[in-house]
This record gives sequence, C-alpha cells and structure tokens, in this order.
Amino acid sequence: MTTLGTAIIGLGAISGVHLKALADLELADLKAVVDIDESLARRVAEEYGCDYYTDYKEMLKRDDIQVVHLCTAHYLHSPMAIDALKAGKHVLTEKPMAESMASAQKMLQAAVENPNVQLGVIFQNRYNAPSKRMKQYVESGELGKLICMKGLVTWNRTAAYYETEWKGNWATEGGGVLINQSIHTVDLLQWLGGEISSVKGSISTDSLEGVIEVEDTAHAYIEFKNGATAIFYATNAYGRNSPVEVELVFEQGTLLQRGDSLYLDQGGKLTTLEEPVVNTLGEKSYWGMSHELQIRDYYEHLLAGKPFWIDGPEGFNGFRLVMDIYESSRTGKKIVYSGAEVVL
Ligand SMILES: NC(=O)c1ccc[n+]([C@@H]2O[C@H](COP(=O)([O-])OP(=O)(O)OC[C@H]3O[C@@H](n4cnc5c(N)ncnc54)[C@H](O)[C@@H]3O)[C@@H](O)[C@H]2O)c1
Repeated sequence: MTTLGTAIIGLGAISGVHLKALADLELADLKAVVDIDESLARRVAEEYGCDYYTDYKEMLKRDDIQVVHLCTAHYLHSPMAIDALKAGKHVLTEKPMAESMASAQKMLQAAVENPNVQLGVIFQNRYNAPSKRMKQYVESGELGKLICMKGLVTWNRTAAYYETEWKGNWATEGGGVLINQSIHTVDLLQWLGGEISSVKGSISTDSLEGVIEVEDTAHAYIEFKNGATAIFYATNAYGRNSPVEVELVFEQGTLLQRGDSLYLDQGGKLTTLEEPVVNTLGEKSYWGMSHELQIRDYYEHLLAGKPFWIDGPEGFNGFRLVMDIYESSRTGKKIVYSGAEVVL
C-alpha cells in the first residue's frame, strides 16, 4: 500500500492546517470529512473532493479509511479516539490528548488494546528547527551539562476567543492557557529536560476573571532527575501574541530560542543558529509551521509499519506535566515523581 485513506473529524480553526498538509501529502488520500455542522462539512467536502458525514460513527464503518485525524474540542478526543481505535483506524489526535487524566488514561488503554493501529499525538513544535537543534545540543553534550531552562508564552486571548462553546470551561477544555496554548512549551521542556523529579506550579485568572472558569495565567518550577531545573510562565493576558521564548543554559553556553530563531550565547558572543522563517499562516504564525512535517512523519511510519515516536505514552508526558501543575496549584504542594507515573 502506498497511500492511506484518511478522514478528518472536526472542521474548525485547526482543520485547515491538516487539510492543507494532507492535500500536499502523496501518502494520504482524503476520503471524508466530518462535522456536526452539515453546511460546513458539505462545503469542505466539495472543496477537497471527498465525502462528508455529520456522524463520525458512520464514517468509521468505511473500510477504505485507515487514518482518522481528530481536530475537535479537547473533551471529544478521548471518546472519538477510542471509537476509532476500536474500529481499526490509526488515530492522529490534536493536542492535548484529552481534557482530564481519566479520559487520557482510557484513551491510552484503548491504544494498548488495539495494537494493530497507532495512536499519534500532535506536538508539531518538536519538529521546529530550533527545537531539533536544542535537542541535539542536549543529547550531544557539546556545551557541557544542561543546568537550567526557561519557557515563556505570552499571548493574547480576549473574551471573544472564549465565546466558542467548549472554551473557557473545565469540563470541555480541561483548563485554559496551560492545557491549550502553552502545552507545547511544557512538552518541549520535559522533552529536553528528561525525567522529572518534581514540579510545583500555580494558576490564576488575571485578566478574564468572571469571564472564564479556567486560568489565563500559569507558572511552574520543575526539577529534573539529572539535576537541571526549569521555570515556566504562560499567560493569555499579554497585549499581543509574542514569539514563544525558550532558554537553555549549559555549562559552556546558552541557547536562546525566540519563535523560529535560535541563538547561541558563549561569553557574550552571539551566533545565529536558526534564522526566523517566513510564515504562511499569517496571524496564526504562533501555531508554528511544522504540522505538515509531523503529519508526513506519522504517515511514513504507518506505511513502513514502524512505531511512531510521539505515540500515546510519549504524548502523555507533556499532558501529565500540565495535569500535575493543575494539581499542585489546587493543593499548594510540590508534586514528587516516584518513577511509577507511566500509567500503562
Ligand atoms: N497544534 C496546534 O498548534 C493547535 C492549534 C489550534 C488548535 N489546536 C487543537 O485543535 C483542536 C480543535 O481546535 P479548534 O480551535 O479547531 O476548534 P473549533 O471549535 O474551531 O473546531 C471544532 C470543530 O469540531 C466540530 N465538532 C463538534 N462536535 C463534533 C462532533 N461530535 N463530530 C464532528 N465534529 C464536531 C465543531 O462543529 C467545529 O467545527 C483542539 O484540540 C485544539 O487544542 C491545536
């Protein structure tokens, strides 16, 4: 088989990025799109020359569809993934994998029970050039030991953003800036830092108090088993969508990432490692440009019959850290990792 039949469930804001990536991907053949909004589903199906459904369970009955992309609200990821995995479909879900720990665990369980198909989780920022360079520096040790890291997400979401029914609520979004906008940066910190030994964090609603149930601001202090530490701050209360900043301090130099750029500072001598890239997403450039890289990689693994690296347990690592920051904020206590956290 050289192509895989594909369907997308959920045709809202992020779906355009998946649709474009699939249109450019010779390994995928888009067979169907699904949305409960029938006129939207029909319009997208006409544009991409495929079938449409309003009930995803009907779509799952098709034998010519092997891969399902989940572009729906957080609380729908787990039930939809479970149904799709049980129907024998590979599932590529948008982040976060779920809206709660219990939902994520059910999804991971379904993946274990259906080993012939693969669950993949979108964390496209791991494919950004600066992320890959930072990971190489951590792994090669060429700048010495990693000492500490900083992750900063300072974005802007007004009350209008939260008018979408599922946003701004614990039950359907699972949180605010932490689980939604800044989970990518939390995921990068844990991917770069390695095994965690503890986390203490706190959330607050600074600008949209009374408007949203969830937090618009979060911060955390993370300790890693290798002795490195990280601080993390994220807010949707900033006056603009600034490029995400990540800093990695090593014994012999500091890496400074700002959006798509990456610099190496060694004793005040600054070297540009990655230049800013021209984005084609316009105003949404803060989503990053790497969805198509991850989607291609996922299909290449599926077609080669190889395990995809950002699978359920790997996607769960960043998610679990997010959940632990919420838990730490709720209890006011540091969460100490025993090493037994991998649930399955
Ligand atoms: N990776 C990224 O950088 C990135 C960026 C933006 C959004 N996202 C993620 O993408 C997901 C979707 O976000 P969005 O902003 O596109 O949401 P959205 O609200 O714009 O779109 C969701 C769509 O799902 C449809 N839908 C609802 N119930 C459905 C059902 N039962 N069956 C089929 N369709 C249904 C809605 O009608 C809507 O069109 C979220 O998980 C979000 O976190 C990821």
